[in-house]
Amino acid sequence: MTQLLPLSADEVLATTRAVRKRLDFDRPVEDEVLRECLELALQAPSGSNAQSWRFVVVTDPDKKQALGELYRQAFDIYEQLDGINAATIYRGDDPERLDQQQRVMGSARYLAERMGEVPAMLVPCMPGRTDAAPPVSAAAAYGSILPAVWSFMLAGRARGLGTSWTTLHLMFEQQAAEILGIPFEAWTQVALVSVGYTKGTDFKRATREPLETAVSFNGWDFDD
Ligand SMILES: Cc1cc2nc3c(=O)[nH]c(=O)nc-3n(C[C@H](O)[C@H](O)[C@H](O)COP(=O)(O)O)c2cc1C
Repeated sequence: MTQLLPLSADEVLATTRAVRKRLDFDRPVEDEVLRECLELALQAPSGSNAQSWRFVVVTDPDKKQALGELYRQAFDIYEQLDGINAATIYRGDDPERLDQQQRVMGSARYLAERMGEVPAMLVPCMPGRTDAAPPVSAAAAYGSILPAVWSFMLAGRARGLGTSWTTLHLMFEQQAAEILGIPFEAWTQVALVSVGYTKGTDFKRATREPLETAVSFNGWDFDD
């Protein structure tokens, strides 16, 4: 098995950052290491233990380049629209949060320019299409694959890999399906995870909103 970094489970959970600028674009990621991470990903839960997930690993330079180009085009649109979904953009006036958002956008732009060069990509897919599915179905569908994706990223962190969860290429999901030969009508892509070794392995805990702003016990005790 690959040598693991000396990190506790809590440290892995707290320091698995979206790695973009600190990605080592020149060091290939061994298939063996990717397989180890995927073996762990398959330990994740899925609704009714269906395990009806598919993971497409992309290391072929031409395919990465083609997906990278789609991603960059999508990122351009995203920037122009100031974020596709208002809920994913911070619109408050806390200078620290605004500063953080600025940094994320700068880092995201950097990855967008170089997406086609990342050492590996992971495209997780779930069965069927959820277009217009009711919440009970959509939650089961996405909930049956997204935990596995995060497990993959955590397993990568423990092995010195840096990942970034991305979704923007889904603006062009059908074109991406054609590049990878994914049967578009039968399988929905849920993300494009960039993968590479990190430059250095020391990553910090992120600054997040205080727990009280996101958690209440025994009922909804929030202002919104
Ligand atoms: C559902 C989802 C979609 C995301 N889409 C993108 C994306 O398209 N491009 C990108 O660069 N980062 C994307 N991210 C990464 C977020 O920007 C990142 O997780 C967030 O800024 C927190 O980063 P940190 O954990 O390193 O602090 C996405 C994350 C999630 C969970």
